[in-house]
Amino acid sequence: MTQKPNPLSSIKVNGPIPAHLARSVIEETLRAAILDGRIPCGAALRQQDLADLFGVSRMPVREALRQLEAQALLSVTAHKGAVVAPLVQGDAVETYALRILLESEALRLSIPLLEDADIEQANRYIDELEREQDYTEIGRLNRLFHMSLYSKAPNRRLLKLVEDGLIEEERFLRFNLEAMGLGKLSQEDHRALLRAAEERDVEKSVTLLEHHLNRAVEVITRYLASPEAERIKTSK
Ligand code: NI
Repeated sequence: MTQKPNPLSSIKVNGPIPAHLARSVIEETLRAAILDGRIPCGAALRQQDLADLFGVSRMPVREALRQLEAQALLSVTAHKGAVVAPLVQGDAVETYALRILLESEALRLSIPLLEDADIEQANRYIDELEREQDYTEIGRLNRLFHMSLYSKAPNRRLLKLVEDGLIEEERFLRFNLEAMGLGKLSQEDHRALLRAAEERDVEKSVTLLEHHLNRAVEVITRYLASPEAERIKTSK
């Protein structure tokens, strides 16, 4: 029997990690490695291996794994432990239906409280998206653009759920954006959304956001039904 390659071998840890930063360093490091595919779907992550690798106790490891589970990057079961989740979890239509509810509520709460600096920041993300060619970076900028418009929503738990959803989508886009051809299409939506936000027009902004996300559902659903997508559906 051949030894499976260790999924953690790609991870470099630079020196000792201060205890108060341990959870966030582990979380960020693992998230980056999952998003760029260095740790593949189905890989099992053992708490003790991670504690040894990062030179910490198992407690911050457990907390980091819990965060990644909330972002649907890991699925945790009693007997198998933490396993890197498949790219598409469950039903894309249902997932998006929930995201539309959460994101339109976050936008509704945030728009009246947005400052000019938030609008300028959102505009810079659109400009960066225009120039960016790298799909990992495009996924990240899309998340940052959306979050900049939602950021003033006072409900922090809502914002956390919204961000988890965007992180899940970022991973999916990373692998499929090119095949789906969603990139340039989204930019027109982004600009229209930004203009409505600039006018502090809540209803118009929410309508445009729903349109933007519904369009993504259509493209993703069509893509998932295509033969090319069959090979990435590792489970479910
Ligand atoms: Ni978008």
